Amino acid sequence: MRISVIGCGYVGLVTGTGLAEAGHHVICTDNDPERIAALKAGVIPIYEPHLDTMLVSNRRAQRLSFTSDAGEAVREGEAIFICVGTPPLETGEADLSAIDNVARLIAAEACESKLVVEKSTVPAQTGQQLKRVLEVYRRNTGVEFRVASNPEFLREGTAVEDFLHPDRVVIGVEDEASEKQLREVYRPILEQRFKCPVHLSGCPSTQSPRLVVTTINSAELIKHASNSFLAMKISYANMIADMCEKVGANIQEVTHAMGLDPRIGPRFLEAGLGFGGFCLPKDVQAFIRLAERSGVDAGILKEAERVNKRRIDLFLDKIRQSLWVVKDKQVGVLGLAFKANTDDIRFAPSLEIIRRLLAEGAQVRAYDQEAMDRTSAILPHVRYSREPYEVAEGADALLILTEWPEFRQLDWTRIYSVMDRPLVIDGRNLLNPGAMLDLGFEYHSFGRPTEVLTPHLIPPMASGASARATA
Ligand code: UGA
Repeated sequence: MRISVIGCGYVGLVTGTGLAEAGHHVICTDNDPERIAALKAGVIPIYEPHLDTMLVSNRRAQRLSFTSDAGEAVREGEAIFICVGTPPLETGEADLSAIDNVARLIAAEACESKLVVEKSTVPAQTGQQLKRVLEVYRRNTGVEFRVASNPEFLREGTAVEDFLHPDRVVIGVEDEASEKQLREVYRPILEQRFKCPVHLSGCPSTQSPRLVVTTINSAELIKHASNSFLAMKISYANMIADMCEKVGANIQEVTHAMGLDPRIGPRFLEAGLGFGGFCLPKDVQAFIRLAERSGVDAGILKEAERVNKRRIDLFLDKIRQSLWVVKDKQVGVLGLAFKANTDDIRFAPSLEIIRRLLAEGAQVRAYDQEAMDRTSAILPHVRYSREPYEVAEGADALLILTEWPEFRQLDWTRIYSVMDRPLVIDGRNLLNPGAMLDLGFEYHSFGRPTEVLTPHLIPPMASGASARATA
């Protein structure tokens, strides 16, 4: 099928490249001509594992192309996927102006019938507005537009895998032709009938993804309801972690046992600095505003948001309790991205923590394998190191703010020897507290008071580092 993708951010690039990989002919456009020029030259503006190789191979196979001529992209595709941003307004509501612009563009440029698919995360009932705008602006050309919703469930860092091996594909449709067309778009993925470039030696997922067909309103709601539920789950785990600290229990023991109950499930119960990134925080806010506008009590979501904001205060309290005076202290930071395997720093807890430490007079030095360039553009007063050991040199405290697995593999004996004061405050519960204490560190994390450690449940450190740590 000929498919157009409008918007070349995370969602658009992964969707366009993934659909090309599944065998379709995809043309992508973006209103940033520099971005399109870079993509044409093979330069990908984001770090997302596997995306670069898949993009290059699909371009070579002539299934994937980029254009800065949005009209061309609109005319080319039988189905048009809208993947533009819906950032939060001051009010917390989603800014839908980019969707409106694209709808007017499609109405003006299309010369034949199109299926218009909302992929961007939007509040329920946006599809109905989209239909209205397409109708109003098509200027009696007789061109028919069908609208569908197809929310994405891509996680940054594993987005390519999530696209090619989803657990479910949700399509919100209101007519048979749209359903048929979207089934055709996703057939290779639903039947898992393509050579997976991510697992070249055999794909681990043998289960076929479920296709869920709903109304447009339901599909839109599924997306916000899913992200908000994940946010609530994380905040709940964080509340339990606080409780663990007070009563002397271990959060990892508690969530491990909770997660064995299939009604609860083990994932998204990692306690720490809370949820960041450009999806969960903004989607929870937008969902709250939608609930309020609809006259529905959104208290449960507001509480999840409040618990999340407090994670930063609690972490700073841990720093102050250990360091006493923060002013003029050397603080090393390991990790800036909002989570591992991405260079994305939008709504990353690291930004707020560093800002507040700088405001209190600390000197901050930071390292992240992917996110330093982006961070240095907005936090120029931090010193950035090209390797992690440098940030520990002469430091009074070392903070772990992103759960990059690489940090577990570090030579912590070496770090111990170069720090002025061997204090580690782990915002992601990444390291083994017992091993850190054995090495002589003063070590703090979330919900794991050191007197109740049970090493078999705590993630192991690298074999080398662990051997050193426990020697
Ligand atoms: C999230 C959803 O997981 C995706 O399904 C969805 O498609 C995407 O938003 C989106 O709307 O586009 P993402 O923002 O990439 O994906 O990140 P997550 O893996 O969900 O993590 C979000 C935040 O929660 C991160 O800051 C992470 O560190 C934190 N987190 C996650 C925890 O604090 N604890 C956990 O147990 C899990």
